[in-house]
Amino acid sequence: MNKTEIPVEVSNLSKVYRTHGGAVNAVCDISLQVKGGEFLTIMGASGSGKSTLLHLIAGLTTPTVGSVKINNNELYNLSDAERTRFRCRNIGVIFQAFNLIPTLTAAENILLPSLIDGNNKTSRDKIDNLLRTLEIYDRRRHRPDSLSGGEQQRVAIGRALLIDPAIILADEPTGNLDSVNTDNICKLLRNLCDNEHRTIVLVTHEKSVADWGDRCITLKDGRIVDEKNNNSTRKEVLA
Ligand SMILES: Nc1ncnc2c1ncn2[C@@H]1O[C@H](COP(=O)(O)OP(=O)(O)OP(=O)(O)O)[C@@H](O)[C@H]1O
Ligand SMILES: [Mg+2]
Repeated sequence: MNKTEIPVEVSNLSKVYRTHGGAVNAVCDISLQVKGGEFLTIMGASGSGKSTLLHLIAGLTTPTVGSVKINNNELYNLSDAERTRFRCRNIGVIFQAFNLIPTLTAAENILLPSLIDGNNKTSRDKIDNLLRTLEIYDRRRHRPDSLSGGEQQRVAIGRALLIDPAIILADEPTGNLDSVNTDNICKLLRNLCDNEHRTIVLVTHEKSVADWGDRCITLKDGRIVDEKNNNSTRKEVLA
């Protein structure tokens, strides 16, 4: 698949979690289009369904109802194996809880998705550049338990970006970062959007982070309750 300007189309998407305590309607009938090369942000209170929506778009959890089309490929018509392969090649997911492998070093964690995809030709330079950009080069041989929360978060970001994904799905990617690192990551993502036309969906609690996107939607109880364009107020990366 081409790596730029890939649209995402979410139609009538719902996710009900069945628990011992009853059913939880985490995402309720959401329809949403993200244009190819657009940077969409998602806000909303804790428990409003942001992570669930992002996981549904990533093909990581099966919807109860509805569809997710990426570049007109219906994600949930693919077999599990096909969907995993599609994600490994096209989607970079930055998880809220990092999901790093504890026994691997920072550099090995970043390399993992391309190894899973059977690609062991990733150049050393590429990994080193990414480690430097994220300012964790000198921590590359550390395992997650000897990294700070912010460093682990940057490893998780590196792992998502290594494959040059057409679509970047970021769940609170700056939640553990100080303001300087937060700005750096937002600029990095804004540049990927502006210069390489990657499609980005980013979840955040912080308005100052959401202001880097082109458009912001707000969720409440699994539904979209607000949507606004950032055209006039969007933050720009200054040269
Ligand atoms: N695996 C699960 N099983 C059952 N319920 C779940 C599961 N995952 C999430 N939920 C519930 O679904 C709802 C939405 O959760 P979700 O994690 O999507 O919220 P969120 O907006 O990402 O919250 P936060 O800002 O705290 O990360 C919540 O009520 C949550 O308790
Ligand atoms: Mg969440």
